Amino acid sequence: MSDFEKLKEELKDKLFKAQNSQEVDIIRTEIFGKNGLINLEFKKLGSLSPEDKKKLASEINRAKQELTKLFNDKAEKLVDVEIDEKVKKEKDDVTLPEKEFRLGKIHPVSQVIDEISSIFSEIGFSVEEGPDVESEYYNFTALNTPENHPAKDMHDTFYIDKNMKTLLRTHTSPVQVRTMLNGKPPFKIIAPGRTYRSDSDQTHTPMFHQLEGLHIDENINMGHLKGCLNYFIKEFFEIDKIKMRFRPSHFPFTEPSAEVDIGYKIQNNKIVIGEGDKWLEILGCGMVHPNVLKNSKVDPNKYQGYAFGIGIDRLAMLKYGINDLRSFFECDYRWLNYYGFDPLDVPTNYRGLSK
Ligand code: PHE
Repeated sequence: MSDFEKLKEELKDKLFKAQNSQEVDIIRTEIFGKNGLINLEFKKLGSLSPEDKKKLASEINRAKQELTKLFNDKAEKLVDVEIDEKVKKEKDDVTLPEKEFRLGKIHPVSQVIDEISSIFSEIGFSVEEGPDVESEYYNFTALNTPENHPAKDMHDTFYIDKNMKTLLRTHTSPVQVRTMLNGKPPFKIIAPGRTYRSDSDQTHTPMFHQLEGLHIDENINMGHLKGCLNYFIKEFFEIDKIKMRFRPSHFPFTEPSAEVDIGYKIQNNKIVIGEGDKWLEILGCGMVHPNVLKNSKVDPNKYQGYAFGIGIDRLAMLKYGINDLRSFFECDYRWLNYYGFDPLDVPTNYRGLSK
């Protein structure tokens, strides 16, 4: 019998006699540890001829398998024994108060993303996703953004590398390009997700959420865009009458471009959507620029369509009366408990208020 075999048998015997998991742990190190039986034997391989090497290696591996199995069996047995002993010793104290049971809550942002997705899915939009860490190309260049555009400035955008080629996406619009490059028209998608800009006050946080919309087909025009947004706002705020206005604006990736405001008023310290003479901006939109279609391998002479980008957090604040955006991301359990939603109350096709 070789030294290795002898030692192995000794350790097996020790393992067999071990009484508790501490003892087993010590033997485990003696066998499988850095300077244990198996490793020391493996170290001998270096000085052997190729043939002997093969022979010894398979011998060690066989021993390793055998020992592993013995260890697992032993560990299982000991755990059972130890649990039995513990249970025998413990006595239940029936006078102790029960532990408080808390159900988690759905964050208003997740809730609103679900609501919006469900509203758009009813008129044929499917959901797409894109990465938070984006290339400068998809975030700006492919979206027809000129080199000197102010949004590309270091003060506005979080760049990840020194040569400004990788960044945290500043909007969800890059998903437009990614989706079009990945498929064939027509496209009818929404893309919710996190976006990042170097900004922080009561209505801005460095990370916020947007929802991109894109509809491309042969005969899509601005009327479709208006109809779609009108439907969405009514469904989302659960109102029949909606005051909505399109204000001319500029985005490099849409032409023409517009910003959409909805009318509201303050009544008894509460915001009432759809009436009144105040206006609140909620999204940017427009007809997708032919250059964006070209960059996305879609023929602009055959296809056209609209895109929009909705600020999700802002909609959540409006619908659920939350007035500081920063509180969304402070992870305060009391806040979430108050503004969050019960998971069990919210079926997957849920729409509307549950509180
Ligand atoms: N990406 C724009 C923004 O972040 C919004 C937008 C999306 C505008 C799609 C037009 C079309 O402000």
